[in-house]
Amino acid sequence: MAVILLTGAAGSIGTAVAPLLRAAGHRLRLLDLVEPPAASADDDVRLGSAVDDAAMQEAARGVDLVVHLASHASERSWRDIVDVNVESTRVALDAAHLGGAAILLASSVHAAGCVPSDEAGDGMPRARPDTYYGFSKAAAEALGDLYADRFGMRIVSARIMTFGDRPHTARARSTWLSPADFARLVEASLDVAPGNHVVWGVSANTRRTVDLAPGRAIGYEPQDDAEDHVDALATELGLDSPADIRPVGSDPLGGVFTTHPLGTPGP
Ligand SMILES: NC(=O)c1ccc[n+]([C@@H]2O[C@H](COP(=O)([O-])OP(=O)(O)OC[C@H]3O[C@@H](n4cnc5c(N)ncnc54)[C@H](O)[C@@H]3O)[C@@H](O)[C@H]2O)c1
Repeated sequence: MAVILLTGAAGSIGTAVAPLLRAAGHRLRLLDLVEPPAASADDDVRLGSAVDDAAMQEAARGVDLVVHLASHASERSWRDIVDVNVESTRVALDAAHLGGAAILLASSVHAAGCVPSDEAGDGMPRARPDTYYGFSKAAAEALGDLYADRFGMRIVSARIMTFGDRPHTARARSTWLSPADFARLVEASLDVAPGNHVVWGVSANTRRTVDLAPGRAIGYEPQDDAEDHVDALATELGLDSPADIRPVGSDPLGGVFTTHPLGTPGP
């Protein structure tokens, strides 16, 4: 049993994963600007901002792991991205450092969104952000290096691909991350060795184009596969059969983000 702080706990990932972590026996501290819908009576709920040093240091006291999810989760103005995404990552790292906790940083595929899917290759490609949002995730990974190298912290930077109950787009046949696999990644992060471990946040999809080895090196063994949902996906896309689902080929990992206007909310 561990004590885990989830920032951004009211969002889609926090809402889906909190019940799984609770069921695995962990005690949860949930921080968000708004009341987390998945909170239970057993959770310690903190309403506050992830850019507030005092609130974050208080929330991280006595926890084993900080899971830093709070951020703008798609493109915003440069100012908003820097003030929330970059700033909250620094605040979360300081809070975890002071509290002696490990930390899982929610990076994103968009940190490397301009890498062609068929060139993602073995290991982790270097950051090639597709948006200011993607830049903030590359910055989070770099801050992770700084805090691991300077302070010996235990850090996982997870390039989350497409989180959801099941794949809902053709691209997600390759990029889907299930709630149960994200919970597995959180549990692997509890015991991680010192260093900043950059891994893909992706399920064991047959059609994935990225490497599971960096995740396996920290004990992350995803179990779910988008292929188990292809019939529902084909129906949702209005196709006759899964064979008609368009493969990602050489599409950039970041999909539509790579052509979205910089600094404009969306896509
Ligand atoms: N969902 C995905 O497929 C996906 C993919 C890649 C990366 N990510 C990353 O994972 C994290 C969680 O994603 P999500 O889909 O749950 O996002 P979401 O937008 O559903 O939730 C984000 C949460 O963060 C909170 N938040 C924002 N600013 C805050 C602040 N200053 N203080 C406290 N809370 C704040 C919001 O209130 C919200 O509840 C984000 O960092 C996102 O960039 C998500």
